[in-house]
Amino acid sequence: MKRGSLLPLGICLLALPLLAHQGKKHPPIEAAKAKVDKVNARYLKRIKPIFRKKCFDCHATAARLPWYAKIPGPKQLIRRDMREAKKHMDMRRDFPFAGHGTPLEDFDALEEILKDGSMPPLRYRIMHRGAALNGEEKEAILNWINASRPLLTIPGKEERKN
Ligand code: HEC
Repeated sequence: MKRGSLLPLGICLLALPLLAHQGKKHPPIEAAKAKVDKVNARYLKRIKPIFRKKCFDCHATAARLPWYAKIPGPKQLIRRDMREAKKHMDMRRDFPFAGHGTPLEDFDALEEILKDGSMPPLRYRIMHRGAALNGEEKEAILNWINASRPLLTIPGKEERKN
């Protein structure tokens, strides 16, 4: 066979996977995506306004840096906080958050900081009055997590640490 005649065959083979999915959606993936969208819709409505006020300075894009962010010393500390926070949990593109954790791990981590009160960090709370999460906000975040967890957990595959 001449080389040229293999080309149409090659194109057909490459097109096969595309044809296989044409017209019909992939039901399990579609269903999973709908659930994630639902979790994000609740996030946008109830949780994002809280996080924007109290977490975005480090975990997303700071609206405005404080005056002391220009002073050598504080400047490096603030930069490091902003970098580290996003490595752990990047809230810039809503839910699911980017960062090193899976959505379920992120829920665990959020529950943890709600329990121990470690976020926002003390050094931030000292400089930003009222930045700590209040009872109402903590409850809203917990309710969102509790409503979301079952949506993102595959039945029978639940692995809770506690
Ligand atoms: C001053 C910057 C700063 C602010 C503001 C801040 N964080 Fe953080 N956050 C960090 C840093 C830095 C880390 C990573 C290192 C660490 O755990 O201290 C982190 C880690 C976390 C983690 C752990 C993630 C993981 O994968 O273990 C969670 C959860 C978290 N932050 C939630 C929040 C929430 C919720 C808010 C707002 C109520 C918030 N943070 C506000 C700096 C911040």
